[in-house]
Amino acid sequence: MGEKILVLDAGTTSTRAMVFDAAGRMERVAQAELTQHYPKPGWVEHDAVEIWEKTLRCMREAVGEGAEAIAAIGITNQRETVVAWDRKTGEPLARAIVWQDRRTADFCAQLKDEGHEAEVQTRTGLLLDPYFSGTKMRWLLDHDEGVKRASDDGRLAFGTVESWLVYKLSGGAHVSDASNASRTLLLALDGAQFDEGLCELFGVPVASLPEVVDTHGHLADCGAEWLGRSIPICGLVGDQQSATIGQGCLSFGETKATYGTGAFVLTNKGQDIPRSDHRLLGTVLHQSGGERTYALEGACFVAGSLVQYLRDQLGLIGSAAETEKLARSIEDSGEVVIVPALAGLGAPHWKPDARGVISGLSFASGRAQIARAALEAMAHQTHDLATAFAGDGAAWTSLKIDGGMSANDWMAQDLADILDLEVERPDFVETTALGAAICASVGAGIYATLEEAAQAMRGEMRVFTPDMAEEVRKDRLARYARALSVA
Ligand code: G3P
Repeated sequence: MGEKILVLDAGTTSTRAMVFDAAGRMERVAQAELTQHYPKPGWVEHDAVEIWEKTLRCMREAVGEGAEAIAAIGITNQRETVVAWDRKTGEPLARAIVWQDRRTADFCAQLKDEGHEAEVQTRTGLLLDPYFSGTKMRWLLDHDEGVKRASDDGRLAFGTVESWLVYKLSGGAHVSDASNASRTLLLALDGAQFDEGLCELFGVPVASLPEVVDTHGHLADCGAEWLGRSIPICGLVGDQQSATIGQGCLSFGETKATYGTGAFVLTNKGQDIPRSDHRLLGTVLHQSGGERTYALEGACFVAGSLVQYLRDQLGLIGSAAETEKLARSIEDSGEVVIVPALAGLGAPHWKPDARGVISGLSFASGRAQIARAALEAMAHQTHDLATAFAGDGAAWTSLKIDGGMSANDWMAQDLADILDLEVERPDFVETTALGAAICASVGAGIYATLEEAAQAMRGEMRVFTPDMAEEVRKDRLARYARALSVA
């Protein structure tokens, strides 16, 4: 048997399969776009069958004839998105409700009015926002006949995307790893399994939920029918926790920011359960033998999806890469500011009803100014998070960035400038997949610890050093704060 790791990265906009060698080199990759369904404003759905079929296709394409060389599978995924399926048939009962979906805003407001937020935050590390899975599960039980019937008949299985994929790959194992489970509102940060009291509060039957397992270890087996032989699944980890591991942020205080569909910053908090007074989240970073390491997280819902919006909805750019050229073509954004609240505002503001703002338009504002303002918004959102982390006593001393959008050199420099902080970027920016490869290689016994695996599998970094006049920086921050106040 070889020492290669097959990683399945089931993201929000695409599904990918990658084969890594034990030195962390990506040898093969296959990718498929995922259809986004927007049935109503604020609603976002995925077809779970499409997720499964595209994952299977990509994994077969990436592995090719090389299944013998695969030692283990690692799965990483968009978090919080809820899949409901029938345990008897293995078929989904409804469209998956995606993490960006805001349909449960009223239920969250009701729970807040009833005074539940403080206790929920203390126990789960999360806030009462439609982002998390618990209220989405409850919505399905209340509004989808098929889900309700399956629940009454004891056939209902709920899970996040890694749970759904393991169920399909293994032919029936119903598990969720602790990093994904910690995003549901149903797991107490110090509880091994889903919590009965929290399940009762959100109206989700415990019996419909998976068993909570480690992020690395022998967690399940992929059936022989899919790749010609049975392969152990040795890593399961939510994509943001995975990127944190892929960046080697394995010591207390180390911080990464991933710019994918959204932007997510995580700081390693070791074995301390994180508590935030600044509306950040406490979450499980990884778990082995039931022992947890935690992170403090700031989640912004819109990052790369803003660039996608400029390209696909507004037709202002032909490709994401064009934004860099446009940003460099002008001295400044000519006072144009974008607040990317297209899916409400996440941390540290948590306003599900906020909507996007473009301010400062004049007749001189063209494509370049808008593209530049879109990139500038990334640094501004991250700066808001930096302030909240510092308020919680977790100020960043440097920041490791990754994700597709971080390949944009102009944006990376702007981040360093606005944060007034050294920003490091690995040459290989797909750290989400690398993190799952690290977890699976430890789970399969190729390396003894996450630290050892990260040391062996991570590549070179490039450093961006702050270089902006303080006056310009202050001016940018003040203008963004003004625009934010009307979002
Ligand atoms: O919490 C949502 C997050 O997991 C989505 O990640 O990579 O699709 O932006 P991404």
